[in-house]
Amino acid sequence: MDWGMANRMAQLIRADGHCLFLPIDHGYFQGPTHKLEEPRKTLEPLLPYADAVFITRGVLRSSVDPQNTKPIILRVSGGTSVVGKDLANEGLTTTMEEAIRLNVSAVGISIFVGTEYEKESLLNLAKLVDEGEKYGIPVMAVTAVGKELEKRQARYLALCSRIAAELGARVVKTYWCEDFDRVTRGCPVPVVMAGGPQVDTELEVFKFVHDGMRKGAIGVNLGRNIWQNAYPVAMIKAIRSIIHEKATPAQAQKIFESEKTGKGRAGKTHTSRKAAR
Ligand code: 5RP
Repeated sequence: MDWGMANRMAQLIRADGHCLFLPIDHGYFQGPTHKLEEPRKTLEPLLPYADAVFITRGVLRSSVDPQNTKPIILRVSGGTSVVGKDLANEGLTTTMEEAIRLNVSAVGISIFVGTEYEKESLLNLAKLVDEGEKYGIPVMAVTAVGKELEKRQARYLALCSRIAAELGARVVKTYWCEDFDRVTRGCPVPVVMAGGPQVDTELEVFKFVHDGMRKGAIGVNLGRNIWQNAYPVAMIKAIRSIIHEKATPAQAQKIFESEKTGKGRAGKTHTSRKAAR
């Protein structure tokens, strides 16, 4: 691996081989989604606990101070919206020149395997990898499922993750699922887990993160289950303990409980999570 590529990978992945990426890129197709209406306010208290931030160039420039940040993974695919025809019909939104200008550590792109736009999204990934390799910038491929959350199963995610790795992604972001080791075993590059929509209890999150780590993930790229929680700082600290300190779900729950009575509190408590999605 060339020095630049190796250096950027080392910025993203800690010396223990693990990572906690914090995605706040959701607005690129969801608009001002719940708890991300003002990205700066969401991000600032969480930033000290993230190893990298997954973000678009617009929010990076408007909401993150260049003097005080973490490694950036720049979201460079988009062009669709939740109210549009088809979320899978993404294109490249940002050039590699812009990524270099923004001094990012990696770029990220979604692929939509099994959809009408499978080929376009995979060729976009391949093109991005060609550009990234030229300049030493790793590409993180996101195995997107759009609105079809039921696709989050080992067989499908293993297929998508392997294809992403074959096309040259340096990191693959996919969803945790039952039999997650099937996904990691078939994917020869590091795998990080996304969370998806907020689940019903914190313990559920701790359990799947712990299970995924045991089964070969190197970390998470986890957004809504952190910043849509009523206690986002407590949540990120608890998840960090699983990733970097080998905490069990029960230990992470303890950390969450003790942090939420202290500085972890941010915003109002949700009465109903489902209503907030
Ligand atoms: C949105 C993304 C997110 O980065 C990814 O889904 C992780 O966030 P969450 O844990 O909220 O699912 O790719 O386009």
